[in-house]
Amino acid sequence: MSAANTRRAGRAGASAGTVWERQAEGYHRFFSQFTIPLARPLLDAARVTAGGTVLDAAAGPGYAARAARARGSRVLALDLSAAMLACARHADPLLPLVRADAAALPAAGGAFTAVIAGFYLPHMTDPVAGTAELARALAPGGWLAVSIWDVPATARHTGLLADAVAEVTSARPAPPAVAPGGLRELLHAAGLGHAECSTLRWVHPVTSAQALWDGLLASPVAAAITVRRATPATQRRIHERFLTLAAALTDRHGTVRLPVSAVIAAGQRPTASGPQRPRGYRHTAASARRPLPGTP
Ligand SMILES: C[S@@+](CC[C@H](N)C(=O)[O-])C[C@H]1O[C@@H](n2cnc3c(N)ncnc32)[C@H](O)[C@@H]1O
Repeated sequence: MSAANTRRAGRAGASAGTVWERQAEGYHRFFSQFTIPLARPLLDAARVTAGGTVLDAAAGPGYAARAARARGSRVLALDLSAAMLACARHADPLLPLVRADAAALPAAGGAFTAVIAGFYLPHMTDPVAGTAELARALAPGGWLAVSIWDVPATARHTGLLADAVAEVTSARPAPPAVAPGGLRELLHAAGLGHAECSTLRWVHPVTSAQALWDGLLASPVAAAITVRRATPATQRRIHERFLTLAAALTDRHGTVRLPVSAVIAAGQRPTASGPQRPRGYRHTAASARRPLPGTP
């Protein structure tokens, strides 16, 4: 990494890194159950196959990076958080890691045949510039694939808590930095072609409403940050409201059956010889649910 990039990573680490440092363990132990099923579909969207070179930008504990390695690609997992990278190293000591700012990649332009960024876009300071920086790392013909959660009404694993917070505090949640409907445009603005988008929905079981509450509060989720900062009385009211909302999704065994919905978008860096016909891909719910190596 250049000195300039090290300085930039240091600056960003002082701000963006903080919540990811403190809540990395909670993310890895609890929240990852929602993101892991998206690792393989993300690789499919980026056309990751054996022999490719893959950058997992904002890799967190490295779920998608490990899945790419299992496909026979050469992989670099990059993240700003030392605690997230420690989780990744623990799961696979051989996974190449780098601590750096994905908004100023320590990589030459065109270095990777695929770049993936799972659930990173909403945390970018500048999504247009940040996406263009990810696209810069792509070799001509390479694919960038990104994922984000769907709107809270369909992504109930975080939507339940967001609704409980909004109803108790009457605070309007901040509009998302990147909305599902804006993904294609973002990829086009980054100079990518053949932009495509797909929505994956499934029902995810969590053992109890209290387990969901405890897990979310230990995770780097925006609504959980609001709860942790609230007074004890407000926290109690949000908790009560949360349990009432969760009851509507709870079966007779106490398991919360959460509708989860995520959007994956991908775009291709044009080749010098002009637009190419994209190679299609298909992801399946079954392949998405198989356990990944080194998952908690
Ligand atoms: C929601 S997690 C996603 C982790 C992983 N991609 C996944 O799908 O499970 C977001 C990750 O972005 C990382 N992050 C946030 N800002 C970053 C930046 N500017 N550069 C690199 N990583 C960043 C955080 O440390 C965190 O690991």
